[in-house]
Amino acid sequence: MDAQSKISHLRRPRRLRKSKSLRALVEETTISTNDLIMPLFVIDGKNKSEPIESMPGCKRLTIDYLIKECLEIAQLEIAAVALFPSLEASLKTENGDEALNKETLILRAVRKVKKAVPELTIITDIALDPYTSHGHDGVLNEKKTDVDNDKTVEILAKMAVLHAEAGVDIVAPSDMMDGRIEAIRNSLDNAGYNETSILAYSAKFASSYYGPFRDAVGSASAAGTNLLDKITYQLNPANRLEAMIETELDEIEGADILMVKPAGPYLDIIRELRNETTLPVAAYQVSGEYAQIHAAAKLGWLDLEKTRDESLLSIKRAGADMILTYFAKDVAQKIKNINLPTLENLPDQDFGEGI
Ligand code: PBG
Repeated sequence: MDAQSKISHLRRPRRLRKSKSLRALVEETTISTNDLIMPLFVIDGKNKSEPIESMPGCKRLTIDYLIKECLEIAQLEIAAVALFPSLEASLKTENGDEALNKETLILRAVRKVKKAVPELTIITDIALDPYTSHGHDGVLNEKKTDVDNDKTVEILAKMAVLHAEAGVDIVAPSDMMDGRIEAIRNSLDNAGYNETSILAYSAKFASSYYGPFRDAVGSASAAGTNLLDKITYQLNPANRLEAMIETELDEIEGADILMVKPAGPYLDIIRELRNETTLPVAAYQVSGEYAQIHAAAKLGWLDLEKTRDESLLSIKRAGADMILTYFAKDVAQKIKNINLPTLENLPDQDFGEGI
């Protein structure tokens, strides 16, 4: 035997990859239904479910259908839903007045879902984009050149109280205005809702991955463009340090959970935040991330299930403690469908003598 065939490597990491059970034993990251939050869109009316073209499998649901969907989601042991209203254009105004209407769609939906499925955690967005005719997350300044930060914060603080009153467990300000977490915390506490949590969309980037969502809630068409520019309030995708400033401020101002959004293209931010804070970290796998996996799968270029699972695993591995994803229900179904055979159902086997 010549010397070359006897190469001895001290470390052979492949040893731990050779069987399924060994690989399972050393697996570092797993996705559980406890990690998942399902975003859902609600519309007015009865008995209707409208498909959203750019988000295959996602639908806008009337409240009766939404309740059924939430019951199923609770059965799958998904931890929470994030509800978004999709309003008729006629209800949208320059100042988003409908956001403070006590009988607005989202509040009616929350009251009904909370009653029908009390164990399910309900999260709602606190931002004006579903309500404004221009599709921005706040009201505009006098010259209409930009969103007016402080006027918007005042409205959001009132809106959060209405949501808490309707039964929302976690309000999620997604507007990226300065100082909104402190204002919302104060107004919730003053109204007696000190148990309502705040999930802050802290590092929310001005991303092109929100396109399909804007179709879903009609905020893109309301603005008359698919390129609604939110760059004066959402973060520049180039900036990591600025993202850390935003998360730090939200933590100081009283946020309970900090979120990074989008998720997949911003894994570095998720990891950095996980290393920096002791608060729970959420990540939002947004509509565009969902759409691109579906689109590639439809063309036969990617395997839908495998790519989906890998995308979520990566977000969790990066440090997210919880993930908002439109795949939540599909993934939960897959997780829960693993039926262990009961002892009675085990096939007869010959275990040999004495057993
Ligand atoms: C709006 C809001 C957006 C999303 C959640 N809340 C879009 C935006 O900022 O225009 C995006 C979610 C997604 O793309 O799935 N405040």
